[in-house]
Amino acid sequence: MEDTLINIKNTALSFIWEAEDRKSLEETKIQFLGRSGKLTLALKELPKLPIEKRVEVGRLANEIKKTIEEAMEEKMSQVASESVVKKRESIDKSVPAIMPKIGHMHPISQVMYETIEIFKSLGFQVADGPEIESDHYNFEVLNIPKDHPSRDTQQTLFLDSAGTSYSPGEMLLRTQTSNMQGRIMEKTKPPFRVLVPGKVFRYEQVDASHGFEFWQVEGFMVDKNVSMSNLFATLDYFFKQFFGEKTKVKFVCHNFPFVEPGAEAYISCVVCKGKGCSFCKQTGWVEILGAGMIHPNVLRAVGINPDEWSGFAFGTGLSRMATLKFEMDDLRLLTNPDLRVLEQF
Ligand code: DAH
Repeated sequence: MEDTLINIKNTALSFIWEAEDRKSLEETKIQFLGRSGKLTLALKELPKLPIEKRVEVGRLANEIKKTIEEAMEEKMSQVASESVVKKRESIDKSVPAIMPKIGHMHPISQVMYETIEIFKSLGFQVADGPEIESDHYNFEVLNIPKDHPSRDTQQTLFLDSAGTSYSPGEMLLRTQTSNMQGRIMEKTKPPFRVLVPGKVFRYEQVDASHGFEFWQVEGFMVDKNVSMSNLFATLDYFFKQFFGEKTKVKFVCHNFPFVEPGAEAYISCVVCKGKGCSFCKQTGWVEILGAGMIHPNVLRAVGINPDEWSGFAFGTGLSRMATLKFEMDDLRLLTNPDLRVLEQF
């Protein structure tokens, strides 16, 4: 009986050592340790032995079983790591790799971050604000009372007040990032320089140059003796940085209720450089932004003394800046989700 067991052990071990893969190891396992495997069958003979032999042979049989199992386990992990190496060796490194698709920033974000960087270099801080706004901050603080005609130019989307504690017409989707002037100025002691990029909403018929939701950036500074020439110099510097050194800027008087005096800024056409083309409707200029000296009524409304402090403000459409920068003739391209369009910028 002992000889049979030792024989089984030696055969099993030689099978294990010679096995080259997982499959033949599995087969060897069944052949020796399976339900009708050689060792299992031999063990079934144990009860036939005289009692005094049974314990001794039983111990030997258990040791043999353990040895076979351990050898099997060791070989199993060896073939597993060898097959990984073999697989690695079969990779052809000369085959060109499939390039992962790498995205990039949306054109509006590109324009926004570039604008932020330029104004940061002039000491402006960046602020964020709510898109759901009150009539107070969107209009009233900005010297635009309820019956003011300029409200008509900003077709406002009011929120339904039913079931809320707000009165009808009190809450709206902000029509301009100028809403942040009041919010920031009433909490901040001058001097300060702030830039507010953000999304705004208007009840507009969508066409090549109008959207019902679009991006703006508002900037304002308050300090001692801030004048219109500070405003011109700041914007001139910004446009030259953003659109190129050769960009010309002109200012034309314009009325905005929250600035006095107010102006509209034009830059030389980005396409024809001022010669006149269909992009600028043959004028050589494109309108880009509204600006002016912050109205004393606005400063008073936020608790800043206009005899002591003065400031300027400006606001422009980031979407408009993007169409000018990338010479697009249709604003709607910017919100087109088609990657074939977006990948061009
Ligand atoms: N908020 C104005 C608009 O959306 C733009 C604007 C004009 C902002 C003049 C200003 C400003 O700060 O001074 O049409």
